[in-house]
Amino acid sequence: MDGNGRWAERRGRPRWMGHVAGAHAVRRVVEYAARAAVEQLTLYAFSSDNWNRPVEEVGTLFDLFDSHLRTQTDRLARQGIRLQVIGRRDRLPLALRGAISAAEARTSAGRRMTLRVAIDYSSRAAILASLPTAAALHGTPQGETLLPPVDLLVRTGGERRLSDFLLWESAYAELAFLDVLWPDIGTAHLDALFADYAARDRRFGALPQRATA
Ligand code: FPP
Repeated sequence: MDGNGRWAERRGRPRWMGHVAGAHAVRRVVEYAARAAVEQLTLYAFSSDNWNRPVEEVGTLFDLFDSHLRTQTDRLARQGIRLQVIGRRDRLPLALRGAISAAEARTSAGRRMTLRVAIDYSSRAAILASLPTAAALHGTPQGETLLPPVDLLVRTGGERRLSDFLLWESAYAELAFLDVLWPDIGTAHLDALFADYAARDRRFGALPQRATA
């Protein structure tokens, strides 16, 4: 979800306002994805490398996650959306950890869509944690193992990198890079992404369908 900072800077506003606008975009995208029958959606909200940002910005982001969890959980539950947070929890503020656990419990019966939010997430750490020996050696308490394979990986904000996100799970993911800043993402962008994805020929190393007939 790249581009919150630039969105704010272009309007002469502080970066935190971009993150607030980004949170509105999260709600828009989650609800539209559920309506479009997406079964699993994973949002990269805070990478383990984001700890290198100024402490005030990190605090703003955690406050935003906390308030969003507290205010949106009932809505998610009503819509049949199950929330799962991935990443390390042991470095998060206690109150945020509590809000995460409560939101996960409150939405656990949701079957329409699984919404994963990655907070203090590092794909390399998750891969290491999934290897018992490596985990013992490196001691990376990610709290989860590997996730289902990714079909479509979208990065906004004009960057063309994976930045330690779902590296293993994206082995055969279709990639889409949008120049749109995350707070500007709208349902028309999602429709275009779905149409583009539907037109791709996913072969997983095999021959194209027409060649096997
Ligand atoms: C990257 O853009 C964005 C983040 C590090 C934060 C993502 C957080 C949100 C979208 C807010 C709310 C999220 C939830 C789950 C409620 P950037 O700040 O690096 O933008 P820039 O590249 O323009 O500086």
